[in-house]
Amino acid sequence: MARRRQIYEGKAKILYEGPEPGTLIQYFKDDATAFNAQKKGTINGKGVLNNRISEHVFTMLGNIGVPTHFIRRLNMREQLIRQVEIVPIEVVVRNVVAGSLAKRLGIEEGTQLPRTIIEYYYKDDALGDPMVTDEHIACFGWASQEEMHDIADMAIRVNDFLTGLFAGINIRLVDFKLEFGRIWENDFSRVILADEISPDGCRLWDMTTNEKLDKDRFRRDLGGEVEAYQEVARRLGLLPAEGTETAVLDMESHRKKRGQ
Ligand code: TMP
Repeated sequence: MARRRQIYEGKAKILYEGPEPGTLIQYFKDDATAFNAQKKGTINGKGVLNNRISEHVFTMLGNIGVPTHFIRRLNMREQLIRQVEIVPIEVVVRNVVAGSLAKRLGIEEGTQLPRTIIEYYYKDDALGDPMVTDEHIACFGWASQEEMHDIADMAIRVNDFLTGLFAGINIRLVDFKLEFGRIWENDFSRVILADEISPDGCRLWDMTTNEKLDKDRFRRDLGGEVEAYQEVARRLGLLPAEGTETAVLDMESHRKKRGQ
């Protein structure tokens, strides 16, 4: 296949020029990082699973009217997406205390929050993605107040939908991170959901055992990362029956060996 022009390489994904103007190809890598890339590793098959999980979630969100950048999955590691201008804000939605919130405020992980919290972080690796408020976002012009209104609205809709989706497969949606992008139509722009939704950017706990089924397995050296991601995909109905999970990944390595 002719090599496409690479537009951007991030920690877990690569963006290539798409087949038509206004489109990009999003390639999911197996690379994993944590703590602002101070910890690096590879989770074999993660990209394949995240591509599939994110496709599923974005398709369902599209079906309930949340606008997203997702167009269609192209193959095991790539999806066609709309090109957006990324809003430089990471939107974190929390239902249960965990991670940096637990640490910052000294509250025990697992404490149920009486109401959902939305936090914003300014996307800047050199600064370590500092937490910011609406005031900073407006003051420095990272997003308009109207855009932030739409973003908060979509974040709540996504949270309500995903909480139910995961509860239906016995998974507690503890927290997650979203990113949004601007698309331009004539002189007007609007924000749509971008990036990915996968166990890389969510905390997903088994409701019965509290077992972690997300990237905290990597962050905290718990092991079993790929099995956890596979379990999420399996419960979402994205992998065939139990015992054949590795077939998907084996298929990919077969193809690679045959040079496809
Ligand atoms: P935190 O507790 O470390 O702030 O993370 C909150 C949620 O956001 C968690 O589900 C992981 C996700 N997240 C990312 O996807 N990327 C990041 O860079 C960070 C810090 C968190």
